[in-house]
Amino acid sequence: MRRFSPRAASWAGALSAIPFALSAFIACSGESTLTHSPTPPDSDAGGPDPAPISDAGARDARPEQDAAAWKPPIACGTELPGPALPPNLTEAEPGYAQELEATDAAGVPDPVDYSGQSKLIRGVVHYMFQEPASEPSVLSHDRAQATENENMGRAFLAAAARGRDGGLSVPFLRRGLYYHYACSRPLPASLDQLRERYGDYRTWRVETMACAKPKNGPRRIYKNSDKGVFVSETLVGDGGIRETEVIFTKLRDDGQLDFAVYTADGQLTDRSSFATNGGGTVTAAAPYICMSCHLDATSGGFTNLRPTGTGAGCKDRDAGP
Ligand code: HEC
Repeated sequence: MRRFSPRAASWAGALSAIPFALSAFIACSGESTLTHSPTPPDSDAGGPDPAPISDAGARDARPEQDAAAWKPPIACGTELPGPALPPNLTEAEPGYAQELEATDAAGVPDPVDYSGQSKLIRGVVHYMFQEPASEPSVLSHDRAQATENENMGRAFLAAAARGRDGGLSVPFLRRGLYYHYACSRPLPASLDQLRERYGDYRTWRVETMACAKPKNGPRRIYKNSDKGVFVSETLVGDGGIRETEVIFTKLRDDGQLDFAVYTADGQLTDRSSFATNGGGTVTAAAPYICMSCHLDATSGGFTNLRPTGTGAGCKDRDAGP
């Protein structure tokens, strides 16, 4: 069941210090510096869409009708391909499934009041239960255990059971989100499947950036607002694509974004790499790392398609396009 092989390192002391360190390192908003400008009303900069919806072709999927039938691409606990996480990252700690199994949530208050958590973590919980961030930060066991919330509900109640002083265990919540996200959301299992569902994004309107700050390198972004799909390729070397990151804006009812990452081979992964302040690259866990930058600082929800002021790269040059 383990996603990563056990490592010799001891985590206990380091864990509490870790949660937001990475965010600062790669210049996401994190907790304390919610400095994003608001998302522009229409962030699809660029010319007219070269593939108007009426020309999309009979073979294109019609997402709005099919989405209800799409299943999560993997079973929980399936190890996905992709670059390794740094061993000291919260989500890299092995053994989550066993720890979850061993957690008794019977003594957790009902409802759980998590209004004492930080804005970011309250947002994460709302996101797990597909609620807008404006909902009260209170969750009943009934709602947590409803069939459609089964996975996230177990993760949440276990984080409550493992918290201290009436709070949630944030590391356990993050590990729970990481473990359960790809087995709970109807993400395409591969870029081939994404194209089957939405059509070939390479025919959509495209924006090319010479240097994208989150990546410290060039990026190509394909956009289709009608379908609610935004595909961002991290370009390396001579035409290579290191990873493809995708945001879905119409997969959920709460107005928030879904996040997916695909390897160079086009397979779903749950990790992606970002520029660091030191000029290097670090791999982090999706969707949490995506959420830390694609946060709307005002609402506390994860609705920001186009963050500004984030990313540690491109310091020595003008950012493209
Ligand atoms: C360090 C901050 C940061 C992190 C982490 C981050 N993003 Fe972004 N993202 C941005 C910024 C900034 C942009 C705007 C384009 C640019 O400047 O590169 C962006 C743009 C995008 C776009 C293109 C949206 C559009 O229409 O322009 C997609 C898709 C995307 N990100 C997906 C993801 C996914 C998936 C993850 C997680 C694996 C992620 N991002 C993590 C900062 C971040």
